[in-house]
Amino acid sequence: MELLSAKNAAIKWGISQRRVVVLCSEGRIPNAQIVGNSWVIPQDATRPNDARKKIEKKEGPRPFLKWAGGKSRIAKEVVKEFPDFNKYYEPFLGSGAVYFEVAPQNGVLNDLNTNLITVYKHIKDQPEIIIQEMDIIQKEYNKLETDEEKEKLYYSLRDEYNKKEKSIRKSALLVFLNKAGWNGMYRENSKGNFNIPFGKRKQLSIYDKDNILKVSKNIQGMNFMSGNYADAVKDAKAGDLIYFDPPYFETFSDYQKQGFTDKNQEELHDLAIELSKKGCYVAISNSNCSKTRNLYKDFKRIIEIPITQTIGSKASSRKVITEVLILNY
Ligand SMILES: C[S@@+](CC[C@H](N)C(=O)[O-])C[C@H]1O[C@@H](n2cnc3c(N)ncnc32)[C@H](O)[C@@H]1O
Repeated sequence: MELLSAKNAAIKWGISQRRVVVLCSEGRIPNAQIVGNSWVIPQDATRPNDARKKIEKKEGPRPFLKWAGGKSRIAKEVVKEFPDFNKYYEPFLGSGAVYFEVAPQNGVLNDLNTNLITVYKHIKDQPEIIIQEMDIIQKEYNKLETDEEKEKLYYSLRDEYNKKEKSIRKSALLVFLNKAGWNGMYRENSKGNFNIPFGKRKQLSIYDKDNILKVSKNIQGMNFMSGNYADAVKDAKAGDLIYFDPPYFETFSDYQKQGFTDKNQEELHDLAIELSKKGCYVAISNSNCSKTRNLYKDFKRIIEIPITQTIGSKASSRKVITEVLILNY
């Protein structure tokens, strides 16, 4: 049997070599085998159909940040459970994946991370100026030739960010650090300083101008707050929808130095009960674990939503887990 290397199969089929390796390891190319430490493929093998879910390019605004616990992959699933409502509240905004999917005209968006909320406010009020500032930082990074120079710049901009008072520059730096830091995480140490290490990215595209302008247009009617989630929903009334996406039980919760404890989870539950009594629609995301199910056992519905988790870069390390959406209606 004539054999092809993964590299030559990639050229023949017009796909990446990495994709060929994934197809081999998923067993989707008959008689592909490992020789030494590389895959080889029968010369007459045909390219398998692409079974990956096509990610629809959304025309509307979309999140401009990567965020731990971000809901981009399941925003549609979440939103399809939402009823018609009067006013929209999202007190744990992060990158706002669910907000952007709903795209309401008015409402309240909140996050305890005041620097994050300031970025939204700058995009709302001065989109062109923050775009200019992000562009300056991006060019400064991309023009550097060596990894060492890029790493040095990353840490000096991280220091600048941590020392700086609120400003357009600080907001642009947050976007840069989010894209250039390890895994798009936002985490603070006990002093409240952003402490994510360098992500070793060669070239960066930290913003999409069209998207930032669309975001700016879309958030004009939104009221931004930065405080504890409970303060953000004080004015919610019957018929309003509140979507809570807190740090989850038993996963990463160090977005801020104070974290999010089991006691905080109980307080959130009690607030959700109060809002239910007022006649608000309440939807809450959390991990699918016994703590969540016990805490919310008095709620009308607990829906499971599957989500594919990728650990590392190998297709074989992808696994589907479920999280839950708790609804009071
Ligand atoms: C799971 S993330 C939200 C992710 C978001 N739905 C998205 O799609 O990116 C939780 C967010 O809650 C914020 N947060 C943590 N504690 C909070 C609190 N007590 N009040 C308000 N926001 C809080 C964090 O800063 C973080 O952005």
